[in-house]
Amino acid sequence: MSKVMTKIKKDADSCLNTFRILTDHCPPSTRSIHHTSIKIPVAASSNHDTITPMTFDMEELPPGDRYRILASLVTPRPIAWVTTQDRKNRLNAAPFSFFNVFGSNPPIVAFAPGNKDHHTPKDTARNIRETGEFVVHMVDEPLGKVMVATSASLPHGENELDLHNLTTLPSEKISVPRIAEAPVALECTAHSTIEIGSNRLIIGIVHFVHVREGIMDEKGYHQEGQYHPLARMASPDWYSRTTDQFEIPRPD
Ligand SMILES: Cc1cc2nc3c(=O)[nH]c(=O)nc-3n(C[C@H](O)[C@H](O)[C@H](O)COP(=O)(O)O)c2cc1C
Repeated sequence: MSKVMTKIKKDADSCLNTFRILTDHCPPSTRSIHHTSIKIPVAASSNHDTITPMTFDMEELPPGDRYRILASLVTPRPIAWVTTQDRKNRLNAAPFSFFNVFGSNPPIVAFAPGNKDHHTPKDTARNIRETGEFVVHMVDEPLGKVMVATSASLPHGENELDLHNLTTLPSEKISVPRIAEAPVALECTAHSTIEIGSNRLIIGIVHFVHVREGIMDEKGYHQEGQYHPLARMASPDWYSRTTDQFEIPRPD
């Protein structure tokens, strides 16, 4: 085998291995994508020192496959651990990694809770629709397992925080309590909800921020090496630490 062909085969094998990690838990529909989309024979038969990239036609794939591909590639994502209350003040907690901050004037965050089934919004979305308030918590590694445990689908009204012995504290500006163990809590009110197909994007305004002592200085600058939020990686169960941080100065 020529040097070029050996390199192509090596690249293709490594590509296959990466994709095998993504498809470990996949139904047959996604596995068949792997066979049709990776164009190894074409690349190997051409004399170029490259392989054809794997491609996915998102317009052709079923929603489950589209989710897995995007959720596994658009990483790492921060995780919003969200507390809400229903009209009867029954507390709820659940994690969401379709989440980020989108501006500071006003300070806004957004996250995307889906539906339990075709007709029923998840409790978090339902509670926010009822009360317009929620707290977003950031999660660090010691809280990882309990955060994931609160993603279990409980009947509406059952409190994940009591179930897992988490402590709540009152919020300053809203009536939804916050989780004492979390390093960061953002008290929010719902600004709006955008629905696109079966996606639901809740945009919230942040009114008050709680930060565990030692993470920031008085001016709001982070203290080096003191904040390690957990990040969501490939679907369904991969996470990443943020303990290996470094600086890249911007150009003047
Ligand atoms: C780390 C993590 C991230 C998640 N991200 C989302 C998400 O962005 N959107 C979503 O609808 N569900 C997401 N889930 C699943 C929800 O947490 C789960 O459906 C939960 O039961 C919803 O709870 P609720 O009905 O009390 O709102 C995620 C689960 C985990 C473990």
